[in-house]
Amino acid sequence: MEVILKTLPQKSSCWLKGMGTLYKHQGFWNLEDFIQGAILAQQSFKAEPSDVLVASCPKTGTTWLKALAFAIVTRGGSRNFEDGGRDFDESRSPLLTTVPHECIPFLEKDLEQIEDNHKNSVFPLLATHLAYSSLPESLIASNCKIVYIYRNVKDVIVSHYHFRQQIQKLSIEDAPFKEFFDEYYQGISWCGPYWDHILGYWKVSQEMPERILFLKYEDLKRDARNDVKRLAEFIGYPFSVEEEKAGVVENIIKLCSFENLSNLEVNKSGKHRPEEALSIENRLYFRKAKDGDWENYFTEEMKEKVDKLIDEKLSGTGLNP
Ligand code: A3P
Repeated sequence: MEVILKTLPQKSSCWLKGMGTLYKHQGFWNLEDFIQGAILAQQSFKAEPSDVLVASCPKTGTTWLKALAFAIVTRGGSRNFEDGGRDFDESRSPLLTTVPHECIPFLEKDLEQIEDNHKNSVFPLLATHLAYSSLPESLIASNCKIVYIYRNVKDVIVSHYHFRQQIQKLSIEDAPFKEFFDEYYQGISWCGPYWDHILGYWKVSQEMPERILFLKYEDLKRDARNDVKRLAEFIGYPFSVEEEKAGVVENIIKLCSFENLSNLEVNKSGKHRPEEALSIENRLYFRKAKDGDWENYFTEEMKEKVDKLIDEKLSGTGLNP
C-alpha cells in the first residue's frame, strides 16, 4: 500500500495537521485510509443486485440522505426481511440512538459488515464517497440502484470549511477561509474535485436513468414529500396508499429532519468511530443546514470564480449546483 501511495500525487493540504496527507488516487483527492479501503473494495467486494448505494461527496447532505434511506427501507411493513427484525417505526428507530453514518455501512471502511448484511438478508443499503469511476467493478456490473445527492457548491465549500476547522479544533484566525477556498477551487479537497465527482455519476444517470437517482439538497428541503416518495419508489420501497393516508411519509420526514436529529442526545454528545484516530464528534455533522450561508463568507471575486468554474465544468448538464 505504501508503495502505491508513494507513486501518487500528494498534498499536505492547508491545516491538514493530524489528518495525514491527501493523495490523488484515480483522479480524486483522498486520505490514506479511504484509498486503502477503496482498493480493498475494488479487489474483493461482491455486490448484490438488490444493493442500494447511497453516494455523495462530503458535505452535500450525506447524513440526511442516509437517515432518509434507512428510515424508508427499515420502516414497519416495508418488506419482510428474513430475520424479521427490521421493522422500525419512528418511535423506536435506531436513528434515535445512532448517528445516521453508523446506520449504513460504508464501502470504504465496513466491507465485512456489508458482507454480513448480504449473508443475513439484512437491509441492502451501503454508502460511499467514492467517485463513480472508482466503484468496484462488481457494483457497476450488478445493476444495483444508486442514489446520489448534490448541493450548491458554494454552500458545500462553507460547510466543508467549518467541518475541517472544527475537526482540527482551530480558531477562525488559524483557519482562514481564503486558504480553504483556494484549495477547494483547485479541486484539492477530500473526494474533490467536487464537480468531477458530480459529473461522473451524472453521465451514467443520463445513460441509465433507471440506475441512478439524482437528488438535490435544496430541492429536498423545498419539497421533501415529493423527493422522499421518489426516493422510496426508486429504491424499490414505495409507500402504499394506506401508508400515505396514515402519514408515514410525513413521519419519516420529521424523524430525519435536521431539527429532530440534531437535538438527539447521540448527535449532541456521541462520537462516530470512537476507536479510530480520526474519530468525529457526531455534532459536527449537524451545523446550520441553511441554504445560502456562503453569502456570509464569499467575496464577490470568489463568487464569480466559482460561478465561472461551474459554468465551464457542468455546462449542458442543467445541474447548476
Ligand atoms: P451545513 O454545514 O451547511 O450546516 P454531510 O452530511 O454530507 O456531511 O453534509 C453536512 C451538511 O448537511 C451540513 O450543512 C449539515 O448541517 C447538513 N445536515 C445534516 N443533517 C441534516 C438534515 N437532517 N437535514 C438537512 N440538512 C442536514
